[in-house]
Amino acid sequence: MNVGIIGMGRIGKIHLNNCISHFRQIKVSAVMNPSQAGQEFAREMGVSKVSSDPMVVLNDPEIDAVLICSATDSHADYVEEAAYAGKAIFCEKPLDLSLDRVRQTLAIVKECKVPLMMAFNQRFDPSFAEVKQRILSGSVGNLRSLHIISRDPGPPPISYIKKSGGMLMDMTIHDFDMARYQMGCEVTQVYAKGSNVVSTAIAEAGDIDFATVMLTFENGATALIENCREAAYGYDQRLEVFGSKGMIRTENPLKTTNHFSGENGTDTSRNLDFFMDRYAESYRLELKAFFDALQNNEIMPATGDDGLKAMEIAAAAYRSIVGKMPISL
Ligand SMILES: NC(=O)c1ccc[n+]([C@@H]2O[C@H](COP(=O)([O-])OP(=O)(O)OC[C@H]3O[C@@H](n4cnc5c(N)ncnc54)[C@H](O)[C@@H]3O)[C@@H](O)[C@H]2O)c1
Repeated sequence: MNVGIIGMGRIGKIHLNNCISHFRQIKVSAVMNPSQAGQEFAREMGVSKVSSDPMVVLNDPEIDAVLICSATDSHADYVEEAAYAGKAIFCEKPLDLSLDRVRQTLAIVKECKVPLMMAFNQRFDPSFAEVKQRILSGSVGNLRSLHIISRDPGPPPISYIKKSGGMLMDMTIHDFDMARYQMGCEVTQVYAKGSNVVSTAIAEAGDIDFATVMLTFENGATALIENCREAAYGYDQRLEVFGSKGMIRTENPLKTTNHFSGENGTDTSRNLDFFMDRYAESYRLELKAFFDALQNNEIMPATGDDGLKAMEIAAAAYRSIVGKMPISL
């Protein structure tokens, strides 16, 4: 299978690296990136066609699938162009910042009958995937609550924040998807509070850096999500599901498994640094899921509709913060 990648920043580099290192049946034949830095990386990785022109990917009839890893505000345009070009699409989250535009783009994808996978990589994290399996097997019983804690080690640059669509659309979107994925049903109500506890620059850019969101689901269970753009101790990604038969909790993997015991007590290692190391395995597994679904002609494991649903929750959470009240979906 021939693949083209659009966008060679933090996440594009991870996907290119994984394609080359882990999938022998995949050839990355072209990469597009506007700036030299991303282009240089692709050349060093051995990609032969590298350009600042997206047509190097979209116009090449040999390319079967496109990975869209560019800045968020360019995703919808590229998804539509790739769909018209008849290519299978893997798109980073979110698909766009406007719900109307996402609906329009998804309609085009449907009309062109091309497969589209949204890159909700956390579904493929082995620990979170096992939580889902235990829920499906019935071992947790009837679900009562879900807690998700997601704290970044530090905020991204202000230039990124300004283009990100805001914390709920950019960061909490993963947790909205995770909550739907684990609960296995839809959100009926969103109640959110947002504030600035990390950086005045983020407030000046019009965004929040701390959020608490309570979701109510069709099954009556609730999910409580807490997000922060900074945590002094590293990347913090935890999840707990509580049900009538039991509870399952995912802790943070640490840099090492050592426990040091001395006269002052016992120390363990530090949290992992950020998504690049915490979710390394999930990025590989999500690409495997994409390529497997294409090869076997199966439904994508995270669809455009999943992307839209997560965005609808994010949009309701913004309305809840502004209106200081719960929003029904
Ligand atoms: N799934 C995840 O865990 C995850 C993690 C990080 C980022 N992301 C998403 O991936 C996307 C990129 O994020 P990033 O962290 O790699 O950002 P980044 O700023 O590091 O990289 C973005 C790249 O896109 C390029 N670019 C900008 N505008 C473009 C355009 N119009 N056409 C083509 N390329 C363009 C930039 O030159 C840059 O190389 C964002 O949508 C972000 O939400 C997802």
